[in-house]
Amino acid sequence: MEKTLTNQTLLITGGTSRLGQAFVTRALNHGARVFFTYHQASSQAEVLMQAGAEGFLLDLADPRAIDEFVKVIKSKTEKLDALIHNAAAVRDHTLLNMTEEEWDYVMSVNLKAPYYLTKKLLSFFLKKTKPGELASGKKIFMITSRVALMGGFGISNYAASKAGLIALTKSLAQELGSRKVLVNAVNPGFMKSRMTELLPEEVIEANRMASPLEQFSDPNEVADFLVYLCSDRMSQVTGQVFHFESRKIS
Ligand SMILES: NC(=O)c1ccc[n+]([C@@H]2O[C@H](COP(=O)([O-])OP(=O)(O)OC[C@H]3O[C@@H](n4cnc5c(N)ncnc54)[C@H](OP(=O)(O)O)[C@@H]3O)[C@@H](O)[C@H]2O)c1
Repeated sequence: MEKTLTNQTLLITGGTSRLGQAFVTRALNHGARVFFTYHQASSQAEVLMQAGAEGFLLDLADPRAIDEFVKVIKSKTEKLDALIHNAAAVRDHTLLNMTEEEWDYVMSVNLKAPYYLTKKLLSFFLKKTKPGELASGKKIFMITSRVALMGGFGISNYAASKAGLIALTKSLAQELGSRKVLVNAVNPGFMKSRMTELLPEEVIEANRMASPLEQFSDPNEVADFLVYLCSDRMSQVTGQVFHFESRKIS
C-alpha cells in the first residue's frame, strides 16, 4: 500500500468517535504521526495508543483544559500539518425543554472549541519554514453535518453549532488563504455511532431511507476521504463543504 501521509503530523479531536477511530487507524497505516483527544472512552483510546497514536484526555468544553493541552502538544512537536475538529456533543431537546446549560455545552464543545483550539495552535500553521518563505500544505478541517443546512427536530443546539462550523470554515479559508492554509469541512452523512445509536429505531431507519442509496454512511469511507484530503494530493481546495449525502440538501 502506498503511504500518503509519511512525515505528516496530524491532530484529530474525538479520536475515540466512530469516525475518529477509523481515521486514526488509517492515518497511522499511511505513515502519519497522529495525536488525538478523547473525553470518556478511555478503553477505545488505549487501543489507539497501542496502535501507535498519541492520545490525550481533554474536555473540550473547558478552555483552561485546552490551554494545558496546547502546552503539552507544543512540548511534543514542532510541527502540525493538519488539524481535524471532529469531536462533538449532543444534548437533544426541543427548544421548549432545552436548558441554557444544554445549549451552552453543545456550543462550547462543537463550535467554541474549534475556534479556540485553532487560535491557540495557529502558530503551527503560520510557521515560516525558512526566512521569507511561508509554510504551505497546512490544513484545517471541520466535521459538520447535513443538519447544519437542513435543521433537525430536537437538535437546534447541535444544528446551530454545525452551521457555525461551516461559516467558520469559509471565513478562515479567506483569512488564511494568503498564508497557504487550506480550510475545508466534511459532512460525513448519517453513520451508526454512539451519537446516533440512542435515536429511536424509526428515526434511524428514516435516515437510512432518506438516502437514494438506502444505506448508512460508512465511517471507513469517510476516513479514507479525510486521509486523501490530508495528503499532498489535495493542495488547492479551500473553503468547501464535502457532503457524504446523496439526498437533497439546501
Ligand atoms: N454519526 C452521524 O450520523 C453523524 C452525522 C453527521 C455528522 N457527524 C459528525 O461526525 C463527527 C464524528 O461523529 P461520530 O458519530 O463518529 O461521533 P461519536 O462516535 O458519537 O463520538 C463523539 C466524539 O466526541 C467526543 N466528545 C464528546 N464530548 C466531548 C467533550 N466534552 N470533550 C472532548 N471530546 C468530546 C467523544 O469523546 P469520548 O468518546 O472519548 O467520550 C467522541 O470521541 C462529529 O463531529 C459528528 O457531529 C456525525
